Amino acid sequence: MTYESFEYDVLVIGAGGAGLRAAIEASSAGVSVGLVCKSLLGKAHTVMAEGGMAAALGNVDDRDDWKVHFADTMRGGQYLNSWRMAELHAQEAPARARELEAWGAVFDRTKDGKILQRNFGGHKYPRLAHVGDRTGLEMIRTLQDHGIHQGINVHMECTIIELLKNGDRVVGAFGYDREKGRFRLFTARAVVLASGGIGRAFKVTSNSWEYTGDGHALAYRAGAELMDMEFVQFHPTGMVWPPSVRGILVTEGVRGEGGVLRNSDGKRFMFEDIPDAYKSSTADDEEEGWKYTQGDKNSRRPPELLTRDHVARCIVREIKEGRGSPHGGVFLDIAWIKERLPNGAEHIKKKLPSMYHQFKQLAGIDITQEPMEVGPTTHYVMGGIRVDADTQMSTVRGLFAAGECAAGLHGANRLGGNSLSDLLVFGQRAGQYAAAFAKEQTTAAINSDEVEAAARHALEPFEREGSDAEGPYQVQFDLQDMMQAQVGIVRSEGEIQKAVDGFPGLHQRANRVGVQGNREYNAGWHTALDLRNLLMVAEAVARSAILRKESRGAHFREDHLEKDPEQGKLNTVIRQGTGGEMDVVQETLAPIRDDLQQIIEDNK
Ligand code: FUM
Repeated sequence: MTYESFEYDVLVIGAGGAGLRAAIEASSAGVSVGLVCKSLLGKAHTVMAEGGMAAALGNVDDRDDWKVHFADTMRGGQYLNSWRMAELHAQEAPARARELEAWGAVFDRTKDGKILQRNFGGHKYPRLAHVGDRTGLEMIRTLQDHGIHQGINVHMECTIIELLKNGDRVVGAFGYDREKGRFRLFTARAVVLASGGIGRAFKVTSNSWEYTGDGHALAYRAGAELMDMEFVQFHPTGMVWPPSVRGILVTEGVRGEGGVLRNSDGKRFMFEDIPDAYKSSTADDEEEGWKYTQGDKNSRRPPELLTRDHVARCIVREIKEGRGSPHGGVFLDIAWIKERLPNGAEHIKKKLPSMYHQFKQLAGIDITQEPMEVGPTTHYVMGGIRVDADTQMSTVRGLFAAGECAAGLHGANRLGGNSLSDLLVFGQRAGQYAAAFAKEQTTAAINSDEVEAAARHALEPFEREGSDAEGPYQVQFDLQDMMQAQVGIVRSEGEIQKAVDGFPGLHQRANRVGVQGNREYNAGWHTALDLRNLLMVAEAVARSAILRKESRGAHFREDHLEKDPEQGKLNTVIRQGTGGEMDVVQETLAPIRDDLQQIIEDNK
């Protein structure tokens, strides 16, 4: 067979913030760049980081600097983070924010014209540079505008189904265009994965249909290692009602602007359970917390701004114990600030315009007048492709990863706002090092047998048309149901084991799904192909979760409630065994450098 083929020095797979930033950097280094996006350019989960980008600019509180940001990130990640990535991230985020501004991002401003920064959970000082509650959107817009003028070749609506190797090196990728269903062959000297997360493995999620763990699964099948997949972030506040919008994100910016969580008794339940690590910095009355959100430097943060893992669990507790809202969430109230601010309603609309419209249009709720109903939603995966901290190269030569699909920076729990800075800092690095790598390589031959096998495999679901084969949607639905129920926010050995035992059956069903129709815009076919990736990443989450017999960050084990200091020194590593089986092991983290440990101690 012949395929439409393309040759690039650097191929970037994924066009959210990390992919765009990597493509811009590689292109600036003078190499040819292809950028593949599964959906339309600009439609990326990056836009769901609404509330801001964390960068220690110190514009609102001059006590902030990279060291405090580093210490906050490590504490939020419960010290499982790659300390080198956390160091680079905290040091380089301010430059990346300023660069974005220079490229045209229109940040909100302080009175004296600097980039305005707001409070977010787990950040000691107001640190989130933002554009109302549309920061991710503005970031994508700016990167797109900038990138489009650099001669980057964009392939929209193209799904990659296999990475291609020559010996131990990745040399290309194979995929199809969604519109016509035609295969596409990409030859590249280096490949950057920036494909985002795995949210679609769960039933309730802020992720849209694209996020089926493609990059994780492509890397794994190409022989790369994954790490820390048990750590899945459930953002505390997604919409819960009406059912059609369940899971859509309600930005943490609402709480950053003074929004409070209440149960059905009207009580601010977050005051009841403050983790030891945050006791001294968390307010113990409403007045103190309010003053903090208004910029009083001598006050302490409201408990709603504790880390996401903790807030999500408290919400689950309230719901489980019968103090939830009518549709199975809790109440998030920003309307109350009208008691404190004479122009409260206008203030809310100005600071949170998207939230105002989202609730008005989707739920018929005016958030300036009444509380929202919210509950946890699967938002982000801290685990991902294991990369070198400086270069972002995976454990396979020529294969780089950045953004959500890469592991390391966030440890056991990501702080809100650290995703946007992550994808700029490490997108830039991945682009730089991928370009440098590409310059040192010759174009390697593609193994046509490998390509033919991928094409044949992709077309198999059509061959089952007309038989009594199951469609792909029911398998996807059952997987999501299982993950939500057995490997969700609160986990136990018995539940996770049930999920692990469920995978062989799901794999068998996925291998037998059939689809009807032709290859043009065939969503059933696309789902059938995505299933393999979804099952792979979901199994990686479950198998890692069973191995970690402690509670740490986003991984909460009902049967092991405490942190285990020994397991706190271990990363979970996943690789494909020689017989195709999934090997999951624990490996000791590299000891932290003394100067960085000192920074952590100084900022406790
Ligand atoms: O709540 C939010 O605006 C999300 C931010 C993030 O995930 O970083």
